[in-house]
Amino acid sequence: MSNSGEKAFYLTTPIYYVNDAPHIGHAYTTVAGDVLTRWHRQRGESVWFLTGTDEHGQKVMRTAQQNDTSPQAWVDNLVESAWKPNWHSLNIANDDFIRTTEVRHTERVQRFLQGLKDAGHIYAGKYEGPYCVGCEEFKLPGDLIDDKGEKLCPVHSKPVEIVNENNWFFRLSAFVEPLLEHYRRNPEACQPESARNEVLSFLEGGVSDLSISRSTFDWGIPVPWDRDQVVYVWFDALLNYATAVGLGDDPSSEGGKKFAQTWPADVHLVGKDILRFHAVIWPAMLMAAGLAVPKKVFAHGWLLVGGEKMSKSKLTGIAPSEITDHFGVDAFRYYFLRAIPFGTDGSFSWEDMSARYTSELANDFGNLASRLAAMVEKYCAGVLPAPSNDPGLESFLTATVEKADAAICALDFQGGINAIMEFCKRVNGYVTEKQPWVLAKDPANQSELESVLYNTAESLRALAVLLNPVMPATCEILWQSLGAEKVLGAIGNQEIGKVSTWGQLPEGAIVQKSAVLFPRLEVGE
Ligand code: MSP
Repeated sequence: MSNSGEKAFYLTTPIYYVNDAPHIGHAYTTVAGDVLTRWHRQRGESVWFLTGTDEHGQKVMRTAQQNDTSPQAWVDNLVESAWKPNWHSLNIANDDFIRTTEVRHTERVQRFLQGLKDAGHIYAGKYEGPYCVGCEEFKLPGDLIDDKGEKLCPVHSKPVEIVNENNWFFRLSAFVEPLLEHYRRNPEACQPESARNEVLSFLEGGVSDLSISRSTFDWGIPVPWDRDQVVYVWFDALLNYATAVGLGDDPSSEGGKKFAQTWPADVHLVGKDILRFHAVIWPAMLMAAGLAVPKKVFAHGWLLVGGEKMSKSKLTGIAPSEITDHFGVDAFRYYFLRAIPFGTDGSFSWEDMSARYTSELANDFGNLASRLAAMVEKYCAGVLPAPSNDPGLESFLTATVEKADAAICALDFQGGINAIMEFCKRVNGYVTEKQPWVLAKDPANQSELESVLYNTAESLRALAVLLNPVMPATCEILWQSLGAEKVLGAIGNQEIGKVSTWGQLPEGAIVQKSAVLFPRLEVGE
């Protein structure tokens, strides 16, 4: 991010519990965040992309105990051996990674809490009620499923525990009206529409104050004025979005400047399971502190296995490597955003993924790239002929860029990727129709042949730039194959707004065959 003082497009993912290694549900959110931030960077914007880990609370503490280790040793090990390496292998370009056990976080949380207490938003009370450790959530009796007299959490299908403690409470109920007004006035602040409706009806039903501390265990941030209590894990965790960018720091300090450049966050990306925390509790905390609320909370759907939310606790979690070992990282990044409307639940199936891999990636995209390189090599000695144009392709591209940009900025990844892949199909149609291999048989057609090859190369230049946020490693190979880097610079610096300017590849660019972009899948796997 530049230091120009310009407001950055600030996007966050949830910070994930480190009771276990990541599965493809976690990867789904993180890849979506990565694609969106890469897209905004290519729009020429300054961007800040945060992810991280949620390390306190009973869920993590108990897992460490079950593994005969301390919570700190457990989280240190998992973050370094599983979480960070996973994001690295998926090519996630986050600008920062926050861990809630870091001092930069704990100190700022304590300062924030003290501020709320001093301003009268926190009071002592007694909490008695059901709690799900899997969700780390105080439940309402009406939220639970009755299983022969036993009360189960509907998300985890496990019995809830009854908490009975003297705790500190946050006056959440005082913010119901301001929140309702906020969402009524700013429909874009909670998306998609179904999520916004859920939040509105939840708020309209009335909200009680929230217990924000726990006294029966110590794995958490100490409440600054009452060391017998630790901060409730969600109150601690939600603050990561602001502590990571300097919450509460002096405006002239490094942290203060970062805060001014990033806050309020532009998008908090979350799964629909944690919508209420983000769209009710979090903005209320910010309102209480007199801070701006996030511009948008977007709740996506769940990846389902057997019709239920895929999760490690139900032993249905699939590790990203199980898929990337077979299909490659870029196909993984592409598939989930392409196949499932963002905001809707979707089932993962090997059959569907194989089918799309073969038809959309290997045939439509990969083959187009390899055919072009082979033909330029064969008919033009690997040297790109002079610029030419085709009004049909050009206008299709202009419309594609507009459509894709509008869709992706609205987090409609499927719509955006579809638009780009339609252009890819259109270019394949162009090549099929022009039949350059037939033109090549008669030297009289040389200039027409060159024109077809140039237009195809230009189309591939545009495809590489547009698909780069989704499949950066593949598009980099294509970029090199088109000889584009030398003349146009790094692919990541190509602006979306300039993609449809035709004729950017110059005559004489050296086009070379590359490794196959999407190799044939092994039969029988
Ligand atoms: N630690 C909290 C979040 C705190 S944010 C201040 C938490 N962590 S989690 O490890 O359970 O991860 C939750 C997020 O992972 C979900 O919101 C969602 O983004 C993603 N997913 C986890 N399972 C998923 C699916 N089966 N499908 C899609 N996304 C899923 O909650």
